[in-house]
Amino acid sequence: MTYEDIFAKCNTDAGYFGAFRAAGDRTFTMPVIDSVPGSKMTIAGKQYIMWSINNYLGLAGHEEVKQAAKEALEIWSTSGPMGSRMMSGNTPEHIALEEGLADFAQKESSILFNYGYLGVIGTVASLVGPDDVIVMDKLAHASIVDAAISAVSDRRKLRVFKHNDMDSLEKILKQVNEKRKGGVLVLTEGVYGMTGDLAKLDEICALKDKYEARLFVDDAHGVGVMGKNGVGTGEYFGVQDKIDIYFGTFAKAFASIGGFSAADKPVTEWIRYNSRTQVFAKSLPMIYVKSLQKTLELVRNGADRRKKLFHISDKLSEGLKALGFYVGDVKSPIIPVFVPGGDPKIGMEWILFLRNKGIFTTAVMYPVIPKNFVEFRIIPTADHTDEDVEKTLEAFKCLRDEMKMDLNLDPKDIRRLYGEEE
Ligand SMILES: Cc1ncc(COP(=O)(O)O)c(C=O)c1O
Repeated sequence: MTYEDIFAKCNTDAGYFGAFRAAGDRTFTMPVIDSVPGSKMTIAGKQYIMWSINNYLGLAGHEEVKQAAKEALEIWSTSGPMGSRMMSGNTPEHIALEEGLADFAQKESSILFNYGYLGVIGTVASLVGPDDVIVMDKLAHASIVDAAISAVSDRRKLRVFKHNDMDSLEKILKQVNEKRKGGVLVLTEGVYGMTGDLAKLDEICALKDKYEARLFVDDAHGVGVMGKNGVGTGEYFGVQDKIDIYFGTFAKAFASIGGFSAADKPVTEWIRYNSRTQVFAKSLPMIYVKSLQKTLELVRNGADRRKKLFHISDKLSEGLKALGFYVGDVKSPIIPVFVPGGDPKIGMEWILFLRNKGIFTTAVMYPVIPKNFVEFRIIPTADHTDEDVEKTLEAFKCLRDEMKMDLNLDPKDIRRLYGEEE
C-alpha cells in the first residue's frame, strides 16, 4: 500500500495563486524589488512611479526615524531586549510607546504586537470563549478571518454579515441575541484595504450598542491617515470613543513593523496576559520601539502630510474618473480602479503595458475579487507629486485607448465587487 505524500501538491498548480507559483512567476506575484521604498523606485534598472506601497505619509526612510533606530542599534543591537514581554523583554521604552499610542488613539491603554497580522489574531482569540459569538464583515482582511476562525471552537459561532450592510448586520445581531449565552464581538476594518471604502462606523457603533455587543476595528489603512488629527476612521466618523478595541498596524502610515490594540485598561491587560501570539513571542526589538516613538511624533504632527496625501489622491481619482474609469466612492487614500476583465491574461497584459510606461501598480484578480474583473489598486502617498499624477493619467489614457478597454460596469457588477451580492 502506498500513501499520499503531503508534498504531492507542491508539484502541481493547485493552491492559492497556484498557476503563478507553478510558472515560477516573479513579475505579477512576488516581483523582485531591489530598491528602497519611495514614490519612485528602480526595479531591475528601470525607474517606476510606485503606486503599490502603503507608505501613506511618506515616512519610509525619514531621516529622524533612521537616526532614532541607529541610536537604539548602538546600544541594543538588532535584537535586544531578548525574551517575551512576559519574561525578560519588557522595558520602560515599550511601556512609554504603549502609553503614547493609547493617548494618540484616545484610549486608556494599549498593547504592542510584533506584526499587525499576529496582533489581530492575538487580540480576538484572547477574548473569545466557547459561548461567545463573532460577527464579521464579509470583506474583512485575511488576518480578521484567520482571527475569527482560530477564536471560535464551533463554526456556528462565527456569523458573517454582507459587506457594510447594516440591515444584514442588524438581522444577525438580533438572531444571535435570541439564543445568546455569552458575549458578542463585531469585527470590521476601518478603511477596507482592497476596496478603499469606509466601514459605516457610526451606524455599526449604534447597532453594537443597541444589541449589547462589543466592537473591534482593524484600522490598518486608517490609522495616521483618517480624521482631523489622523487618529483614524473612528475619528473621521466622530465615534472613536465608542470603538471598544481600536487596532492599528505600523506597516502602513507608520512605515515600520508591528501593531497595537488600544482599549480600556482591564481589556488590554487581559489581552496582554492571554494573547498567545505575543505572550509566546519575543518582544519587539528596541530599534523599532525607539524609532516608532519618533514616528508617532511625526504622525501626530503630520497634518501637512495628510493634506498632501489627500491632494494627490483626489487629483488622481478625479483624473481617472474623467477618463471613464470606475474608481468607487473614494474617501480614503486607496483608489480601487475596477475594470471588467475576462481572462486574467488580459489583466496581466494591462499591468505590463503600464509597467512599460514606468507605472507600477498592483493588479488584483480572482480569487481576491470576483471572476471577470481586474482591479488596479492604486495607493497614493504624501511623497507623490502632481507630475507623477499627470504621467500616470497619461499612461491610463493610453492603456484605455490602445487596449480598447470596455470600462462599463453596471450597478450589479459594482455590488458584486463590494461583496454585497453573490
Ligand atoms: C486590514 C489589515 N489588517 C492587518 C494587516 C496585517 O498587518 P501587518 O502587515 O502589520 O502584519 C493588514 C496588512 O495588509 C491589513 O491590511
